[in-house]
Amino acid sequence: MKPIFALLALAGLSTAAPNPQSTQDGLSERAAWPNGPFVTSGRWILDASGKNLTYAGTNWPGHADVMIPEGLQYQSIETIVQKVKSLGMNAVRLTFAIQMVDEIYANNGNDITIQKAFVQALGQANGTRVLNQMLAKNPRFSASTTRLQVFDAVAEELAKQQIYVHLDNHISKGMWCCSDTDGNSWWGDTHFSTANWVRGLSYMANHGKSWPALTSIGLRNEPREPKNNPALSRTSYNWQAWYGYMRQGADAVHAANPALLIFLSGLSFDTYLTPVVQGTALTPGSGRFSRADFSAGGGYGVDKLVLELHNYETGVGSCETLKGNLDRNGFQALHSGNGVANVFPVMMTEFGFQMDAQTWTGVYASCLARYLPALKAGWTIWVLAGSYYVRSGTQDYDEGWGLLNHDWSAWRSQGYVDGALKAMVRDTLS
Ligand SMILES: *[C@@H]1O[C@H](CO)[C@@H](O)[C@H](O)[C@H]1NC(C)=O
Ligand SMILES: *[C@@H]1O[C@H](CO)[C@@H](O)[C@H](O)[C@H]1NC(C)=O
Repeated sequence: MKPIFALLALAGLSTAAPNPQSTQDGLSERAAWPNGPFVTSGRWILDASGKNLTYAGTNWPGHADVMIPEGLQYQSIETIVQKVKSLGMNAVRLTFAIQMVDEIYANNGNDITIQKAFVQALGQANGTRVLNQMLAKNPRFSASTTRLQVFDAVAEELAKQQIYVHLDNHISKGMWCCSDTDGNSWWGDTHFSTANWVRGLSYMANHGKSWPALTSIGLRNEPREPKNNPALSRTSYNWQAWYGYMRQGADAVHAANPALLIFLSGLSFDTYLTPVVQGTALTPGSGRFSRADFSAGGGYGVDKLVLELHNYETGVGSCETLKGNLDRNGFQALHSGNGVANVFPVMMTEFGFQMDAQTWTGVYASCLARYLPALKAGWTIWVLAGSYYVRSGTQDYDEGWGLLNHDWSAWRSQGYVDGALKAMVRDTLS
């Protein structure tokens, strides 16, 4: 989430319980949900039966200062997942910070407790109060539950309600994301250690093997110019370096968990991937994107890579302009021809706007509501959260872009939900 526009145990080891369903003629059976691992074929994502699918879902942040999935002081995990399900959605982009994994390593392989996490982030008095609120709403937890066990419980409930989990490495240091001066912008930035990033991806990909719902992972949210660090920016903020890091991260994920689809995000806050799609030079070098470069473990580049883009052009003047921009920025990878060298599935893993009575009827929101389903491009809207434990220093921060209201009890814009969002989900998944 780009603030310039925003102003932005638990799980069993086995797969989900088999759910055989005979067709009416009794000749075939449907495989157990989620029927993975998923692969790509051209512009489609296919399940293990070869049936195409995509995502229509929302972002559930767990990467901010507390590093616990948001909203649990207001509602139970079951209630929140039920709300997502009631929209017909089939996916959640669940975000995490590398710092969480760093702290697991620093603590001899054990994650810190939610008690400690709340107190560290919110202070003794408020941290204790919010912890107690969370325990009252989610009595399965105790003060000694760890953050990762909360992630496990979220993933378990999403599996129970048959919603795919797309894990997203949103940031390194746990905090609100993203600005180009936050020290998390680019590999080598103040808080962004490449080694810790690779380790963190690997850890979460491996850990996620115990989550039946986990089907994919995003390597890094919104790579962007490290404007606080001109030397790094000059020497490293480019497509050539990006390519090296993406290959490194993808190899680590694939080695840890070869079942996962791997999402690649582009430059300038993940707003474009044009050189990848058009097969032009990854500057300042002359190399070009090649699936063969993602070759570990038998060559997963052929069928595990998905492109993700974000768009926050909330003030765009016309739908035609927005469609043209999206196409050029990378959605053209959904079709061959017209200079497209590499066809891929493409998803819009973030877009969003003020959830009020009117904004959803404007050009930007209504264009996306029609165009993404027409493209059969997957998407996850920013953001489910009606509030955050803390954002940019403000505790209990109200999220005006949240699908849910402040206490996560109801939709913030019932007009949008009934007038556009449910149909957008339905038309994307049909
Ligand atoms: C699956 O592919 C067909 C075209 O072959 C398309 O019409 C349909 O919308 C796709 N379904 C999804 C969920 O993408
Ligand atoms: C603690 O919580 C109260 C009530 O939400 C709030 O007014 C106060 O600002 C919080 N303290 C800090 C340090 O943010």
